Amino acid sequence: MEIKELIKKAIIAKENETYTPYSHFNVGCSVEMEDGSVYTGGNIEIASYSPTNCAERTAIFKAVSEGKREIKRIVITGDSPYTFPCGVCRQVIREFAKNVQIIIANSIDDYKVFTMEEILPHSFGPEDLCKE
Ligand code: THU
Repeated sequence: MEIKELIKKAIIAKENETYTPYSHFNVGCSVEMEDGSVYTGGNIEIASYSPTNCAERTAIFKAVSEGKREIKRIVITGDSPYTFPCGVCRQVIREFAKNVQIIIANSIDDYKVFTMEEILPHSFGPEDLCKE
């Protein structure tokens, strides 16, 4: 899928898939998996706060629960200029990413592309546990 089309899906997710009665800060995410399938998600907030789920994890967990395991591209768009994934979400992206492009978008014409190594250097991952 074209990057711009994937960004559009994240923007639509930010508009339609969030539940943010406490912060009113909306984040949308779209993930393109290795097989070409696309999943989207928004942040979901809970009154006791800590169970809140970020948009990235909503989208990724939807994909993983459908049996998908490898993220090719992920787009994040939020209410601040260049909303970057939180530390927890960086680790979750890392779990399902080999050569992922991480796209931080303000609009379909204004975005930046990062690698996993750039946003989570020297990371711990599945290879550290699954030694053959
Ligand atoms: N949030 C995300 O959805 N993704 C991020 O990477 C940063 C933070 C959400 C969590 C919470 O609902 C709101 O933004 C404010 O922190």
